[in-house]
Amino acid sequence: MSDANTQQFVAVVLAAGHGTRMKSDRPKVVHEVLGIPMTGHVLRATKDAGCSKAILVLSANAAEIYPILAASVEREGTSWPVEWVAQDPPQGTGDAVRCALSALGDDDVAIIINGDLPCIPSSAIEHLMAAWTPDSLVVGTARLSDPAGYGRIIRGVDGRPVDIREDRDCAPEERRIADVNLGIYAVDASILRQHIPDLQANNAQKEYYLTDLIKLATAAHSTTRAVAFDNYEDLLGVNDRVHLAEAQKRLQARVLQEHMRNGVTVEDPARVLVERDVEIGRDTSLEAGVTIRGGSRIGTNCRVGQGSVLLNTVLGDGVQVQPYSVMEDTQMEDQTRAGPFARLRPGTILREGAAVGNFVEMKKTDFGAGSKAGHLSYLGDAIIGKGVNVGAGTITCNYDGKKKHVTVLEDEVFVGSDTQFVAPVRVGEKSYVGAGSTITEDVPPGALAVSRVRQENKEGWVARKEQRADAQEEKN
Ligand code: UD1
Ligand code: MG
Repeated sequence: MSDANTQQFVAVVLAAGHGTRMKSDRPKVVHEVLGIPMTGHVLRATKDAGCSKAILVLSANAAEIYPILAASVEREGTSWPVEWVAQDPPQGTGDAVRCALSALGDDDVAIIINGDLPCIPSSAIEHLMAAWTPDSLVVGTARLSDPAGYGRIIRGVDGRPVDIREDRDCAPEERRIADVNLGIYAVDASILRQHIPDLQANNAQKEYYLTDLIKLATAAHSTTRAVAFDNYEDLLGVNDRVHLAEAQKRLQARVLQEHMRNGVTVEDPARVLVERDVEIGRDTSLEAGVTIRGGSRIGTNCRVGQGSVLLNTVLGDGVQVQPYSVMEDTQMEDQTRAGPFARLRPGTILREGAAVGNFVEMKKTDFGAGSKAGHLSYLGDAIIGKGVNVGAGTITCNYDGKKKHVTVLEDEVFVGSDTQFVAPVRVGEKSYVGAGSTITEDVPPGALAVSRVRQENKEGWVARKEQRADAQEEKN
């Protein structure tokens, strides 16, 4: 028996089922909700609720799945013990818990949770913990208007749960019971050790049901207790992709509400996707159709324009991302501007006050403070100094078919439109490059580089051309 003062709560997360109804080649538990595998959300909730560690029950492909799930609880470099046990082949939820017994200490209290509850808030787990007393089995329940598919709670005369009947094993009158098992439990490891070996698979699914434990614990005079959850929508299991989309919507609403309460304007929350680990500063506005993924960090007083997609991107303060801009592994420092239709690829840094206009693509480019590339350019593998003006249509020819080469434009260089820089090449400070030039050689500081053919005007050329045409016609 556990002592209320010395006991520690250990999460046992059941994640060995394949999830046939997902119709997927990947196991259900790694399907993502807001950028994190669904069981990753469960692990985070158990960690936030104060569980001392988690035991993940996984099936045959555990070695592949475990790192994916364990990584989803590593935030800000904090580590938390997650271990896994194999259940191979999966023979039901009771069998899954049996596999976890060896990893549970004698005095531990197990918080058993189905791995398919991505929306579970840590407060629900805390609620379950608070209802636990030594030598008891607590089960989370809810009254559903449509209880189909769930295990039904059978109660004794004193109202305590005495059994759980799985949907497929229900008699017709039991099917009408609205009180269902949510699949979350708090129970002494000692009760599990005592009764799990007695579970039988004599039911419709020929599986060892964890839910039969209620009956066995009742017979042994252990306390059983049901804890009702009013916000049960957060605790409904994801079994197919319709549920997956619903779960994402619920979690998204929660994430956006938190940002809005912290001072972020979200113009149309139903049409914005912001993953769970994104940070956003106050007085920043997100227009409709914005997607922000990965560990992106957005500063204060920014505006992210309609239809823009930001992946692992860091924006400083006062940054303007105009509509339909797409950026990945990019950093925009304070007071920078990009778009509309800017494409900033991995390794791009826009230094303070820089501006990038429409149809400009950058890759691995350090774009100096106050520099501008207003229109239709490609800058790849480039180091651009401060106060540089890049004219429309400028392109770095950075790839020779085998290797990438660097273009350097030093401070205050002025590049005329339609210029090509054949890298590797360096243009010295304050130089000018004439429009339409192909720059293949370094330019010293303070020079003008022009490589185009000198213009020639042939006066009267049109009249002479017409005379020639008339003469030809007369001959014919
Ligand atoms: C289970 C409960 C049911 C409850 C419902 C709530 C049982 C027998 N039934 O049913 O009373 O109303 O959850 O959602 O427990 N798993 C394993 N190993 C297995 C089988 C399942 O790890 O051998 C894992 C699954 O990956 C999943 C969880 O256990 O995360 C629940 O399994 P699932 O098959 O979804 O159970 P339900 O039929 O939903
Ligand atoms: Mg389920």
